[in-house]
Amino acid sequence: MELTIRRVDDRDPFTLLRLPDFLKRVALIGLAFRRLMSFRRRKPCMLCCVENGIGMNLANVIMNIANQIAKIRPAHPAVGAHVTGVYLGDPVGSDLVQELRDAFARYSVLCFPGQDIDSDDQAAFAALFGHVDRADADTETDDPDRKQSTPGVKYISNIRKNGKLIGSLPDGEMHFHSDGAHREAPYRATTLFAIEVPDCGGETRFANMAAAFEALPNNLQARLDGLSARHVFNYNKTTREEMRRGDEVAHAVHPLVRTHPDTGRKSLYLSRLMTRNIVGMENDEGEDLLTMLLDHCEKPKFVYDHVWRPGDLVIWDNRSVNHARMDFPSDQRRLLRRYTISDVD
Ligand code: SIN
Repeated sequence: MELTIRRVDDRDPFTLLRLPDFLKRVALIGLAFRRLMSFRRRKPCMLCCVENGIGMNLANVIMNIANQIAKIRPAHPAVGAHVTGVYLGDPVGSDLVQELRDAFARYSVLCFPGQDIDSDDQAAFAALFGHVDRADADTETDDPDRKQSTPGVKYISNIRKNGKLIGSLPDGEMHFHSDGAHREAPYRATTLFAIEVPDCGGETRFANMAAAFEALPNNLQARLDGLSARHVFNYNKTTREEMRRGDEVAHAVHPLVRTHPDTGRKSLYLSRLMTRNIVGMENDEGEDLLTMLLDHCEKPKFVYDHVWRPGDLVIWDNRSVNHARMDFPSDQRRLLRRYTISDVD
């Protein structure tokens, strides 16, 4: 099913022309101008003739109209959607912001392909959904929460400079998890922008934890609601087996079933990578229950695998989806820029 959102500013004279084909043509011209503008940013003198008066104004009007048409296409029956027709290097109008927030609540994962954005554009986009985390730069620290190559910018990468990783979460497979579950205040959402991707592998997987909860029998749902689980994390470890070794890791306890503040949907809050145990059930019964739930929520019917292309910007809701990373060849570069979003508005 395709949901097409058309936003035309009421004050705009083009509103009077309610012709879809006309709008499509305008959008195409707008896209062409946008490419021109992006080129102009890089090669200003070659296009100085476009710089004056009417040409630029016309370009702006057309671009704004083009920017107000978002096409939202589900990526998977359970989770995720692709959003096209929106360029995030330009300011996003308030109507469109609301459409994107609604789509985010509905699909939990939104992918905007073909973006050409810098870190400030990405942070501005992330700010539409909450408080953007931009820690001070620290290139030398081993603390991945603070490690940054450029002030306020964080990378997920296997690339090494002078033998040292430039980012966090380096190589290979990473089991399902929810960002920040080991903290008292987990991250609300995460944005990732793809700069370099391997030829194969390195897909990010998204599991809809609300759909997984809703698919459980009622008596099990009732049993889980009210339980809590302990979540641990260490940035150097990417699998459950590694993460379970040692107790000296950051951890936090959260309810096993959480209600989403925007949708009211209940979802499971546990993950293969981070959930150490169900509180009060540190025995075989607890481990069996945990294993059964982990296997359940990773079933293909709940999971969308995102195959990255450079220029993809993806945002996901850590309150309703878990994510994982598939293995990729260690001799291939993978570089993504990340901003997390916190619950403090
Ligand atoms: C993450 O877990 O935040 C990164 C996921 C990825 O590298 O695909």
